[in-house]
Amino acid sequence: MGYYLVEGGRVLGGEYSVGGSKNAVLPILAATILAQDEVVLENCPLISDFFVSLDILEELGCQVHREGRTLTVDSRSLCRTEIGEDMVGRMRSSILFLGALLGRERRASLGHPGGCTIGRRPIDLHLRAFEKMGVHIREVEDIFHCEAPVLLGYHIYLDYPSVGATENVLLLAVKAEGTTVIHNAAREPEIVALARFLRACGAEIYGEGTPTIMIEGVRKMHGAVFTIPFDRIEAGTFLCAAAMTGGTLYLKGAQRQYMERTLEVLEQTGCALRYEEDAVYLQAPTRLLSDFTVATGPYPAFPTDMQPMLMSLLTLAKGTCMISETVFEARFRHAAALCQMGANIQIHGRNAAVFGVEKLHGARLEAADLRGGAALLLAALAAEGQSRVYGSAFVERGYEKIEDALTFLGGRVRLVSEKG
Ligand code: UD1
Repeated sequence: MGYYLVEGGRVLGGEYSVGGSKNAVLPILAATILAQDEVVLENCPLISDFFVSLDILEELGCQVHREGRTLTVDSRSLCRTEIGEDMVGRMRSSILFLGALLGRERRASLGHPGGCTIGRRPIDLHLRAFEKMGVHIREVEDIFHCEAPVLLGYHIYLDYPSVGATENVLLLAVKAEGTTVIHNAAREPEIVALARFLRACGAEIYGEGTPTIMIEGVRKMHGAVFTIPFDRIEAGTFLCAAAMTGGTLYLKGAQRQYMERTLEVLEQTGCALRYEEDAVYLQAPTRLLSDFTVATGPYPAFPTDMQPMLMSLLTLAKGTCMISETVFEARFRHAAALCQMGANIQIHGRNAAVFGVEKLHGARLEAADLRGGAALLLAALAAEGQSRVYGSAFVERGYEKIEDALTFLGGRVRLVSEKG
């Protein structure tokens, strides 16, 4: 694994075009197999989780062809329903292939999904819903063997509006017999993107973006051309980078309505924001301000995926901020590294008190997960002196060549491979 070598203390700003969404493209890649036809996806982010998904599609027998950010998947040649443990362990959202394979082939085998270590991340909600719809599940030596002789629509009540469980039920229900209703469904923009993609391929889905989604199963689906929407977390990350270093950023492709709460919090820190239909403009204040509380939660609440970057920003804000992490129970691992740089953060269970300091100093840091890694990069850019941020492979899961993007904006960041 490599590390980022960062020279801090430079202002980041200018113009940047945000890329396609990681959390939208991954479920849509799994969904391509339901089309049983040729699907074209535009604006794909070239991040490592995207390439893992392509490996899975190829392992299943699909034809995959990429030209730049445009991907063509032809799943007519799909000939396998098992996904190797090595592949599944590399990425959490590989679990979504379970719903898609069952929807299409009525059978699937796959191991426990991997992903970031930000909590226990069980999949009980997915499996319970599958069973209700007629899927028989046997777990043998950590591999789930699933079969669905008949797949019937059902009223699924999710105890929590889980993003993954909502997506998995959608993937299964579009090809089930009859009507499925998901109650307490997740409302994230990525759910909306998945539903729109499935509909473009012939599925019948109503109510995405609300807590109740209704799906009428169809027998056959077809190919489509679809554009992956912008990544609201990448957008938030770059806005934080400019805000923390005293810069001015014109972020093209970012749409306010999908990141309202993040933008509201940035306004609370004293940033001046201006909006266009397809762009956000941010101007950092002379000194960031704090003295408010933020609680992460399911959309439209403040996204848990932005919490590490927000915490990083708040370390330099004047005042104190209380952050409650309500989604994942172990998502403050970046706090200790920030304290190594001079930040003042106290953690009490799922709550963090961030007491703003005047400055941070460079250090040798270890990222423990994707967004935590991004948070450390931001802190290193805003700090005095040099930092090394280890664990670049985590960051590469969700950001495409972040070192180039940050350098383009005026930062000094270099990716150094382990061998130098
Ligand atoms: C997705 C996103 C991730 C984001 C998260 C919450 C992708 C690829 N990942 O992850 O970036 O941080 O949504 O917005 O889209 N839970 C259960 N049982 C289940 C499923 C979930 O208890 O069967 C719990 C989880 O442990 C967690 C909470 O529900 O505490 C939210 O998880 P979920 O919404 O499912 O997140 P993911 O789909 O894994």
